[in-house]
Amino acid sequence: MSNKVGAPREINTGESRVALTPDSAVQLAKLGYSSIIETGAGVAAGFSDDAYRAAGVEVAPSAEALWASADVVVKVRPPEPSEVAYLSADKTLISFFYPGQNTELLELAKAKGANVIAMDMVPRISRAQKMDALSSMANIAGYRAVIEAGNNFGRFFTGQVTAAGKVPPAKVLVIGAGVAGLAAIGVATSLGAQTYAFDVRPEVAEQIESMGAEFVYLDFANGEGGGQQDGAATGGYAAPSSPEFREKQLAKFRELAPQIDIVITTALIPGRDAPKLWLADMVAAMKPGSVV
Ligand SMILES: NC(=O)c1ccc[n+]([C@@H]2O[C@H](COP(=O)([O-])OP(=O)(O)OC[C@H]3O[C@@H](n4cnc5c(N)ncnc54)[C@H](O)[C@@H]3O)[C@@H](O)[C@H]2O)c1
Repeated sequence: MSNKVGAPREINTGESRVALTPDSAVQLAKLGYSSIIETGAGVAAGFSDDAYRAAGVEVAPSAEALWASADVVVKVRPPEPSEVAYLSADKTLISFFYPGQNTELLELAKAKGANVIAMDMVPRISRAQKMDALSSMANIAGYRAVIEAGNNFGRFFTGQVTAAGKVPPAKVLVIGAGVAGLAAIGVATSLGAQTYAFDVRPEVAEQIESMGAEFVYLDFANGEGGGQQDGAATGGYAAPSSPEFREKQLAKFRELAPQIDIVITTALIPGRDAPKLWLADMVAAMKPGSVV
């Protein structure tokens, strides 16, 4: 019976997240699941072994012991091959997995006969919203990008007029206005930056403008009346752009580069590598002290 849920310590350097918290363990217990963590799994996220013990969680002394004991292993990052080695036909793994980009990893897991549930493949429908880990992480990433940029930028976000002189507001360009991009736009505008945003999906123009940013329109005719459109596919996701559209887009960015202080790129196409949109010549055209 699969009734023990276990979270190993994330082995990726710098990863401080953990897939199970003392709180979530309490909720799992109400559903009839016991839980276990690898010792130290929550430390980087601020949860000591004792905090887990107080929530009724068992603490395994090693990764090996954890994987051997749990029926369902929950993780944040896709498993390393050394972790896949612990899988077997009677185990289930739930983590980010990106099966489209990680076919080798998928084959390894398949050879083990294990069940794998990829959190990145949860459908983006209303009913599944509470399981939408992609959105919750994208929201944090967009917020954090602006905070990091501000920390590396030598000026204020907001413009200032004082007796000592005038400082113009920072100009921020956000490329891609999905969950991460909209979060970044929200923070940048609330800090007072003059914010611009670009997306291949024309339907986001209204959202961008309602947040106080300016939508960067592209003059691109594609037989449907022009405008963005090209990369827009069904279901709210983008498809890869045509070479012609890409060229238009890059030309627009080249035109903007000299006046933009901070660029935040969040453009993604599901199941593929992110498009490269801010190229070396655009970086070179930016003012010294600008942040990408
Ligand atoms: N549960 C739900 O109903 C739910 C949850 C999350 C998101 N959504 C919707 O799904 C859509 C996608 O959101 P996401 O954040 O997951 O998207 P994403 O992370 O896949 O992509 C980020 C953004 O990059 C854009 N992009 C792709 N190629 C680009 C290019 N060449 N130039 C500029 N921008 C480019 C996409 O259009 C998208 O807006 C949004 O409309 C969002 O509101 C729905």
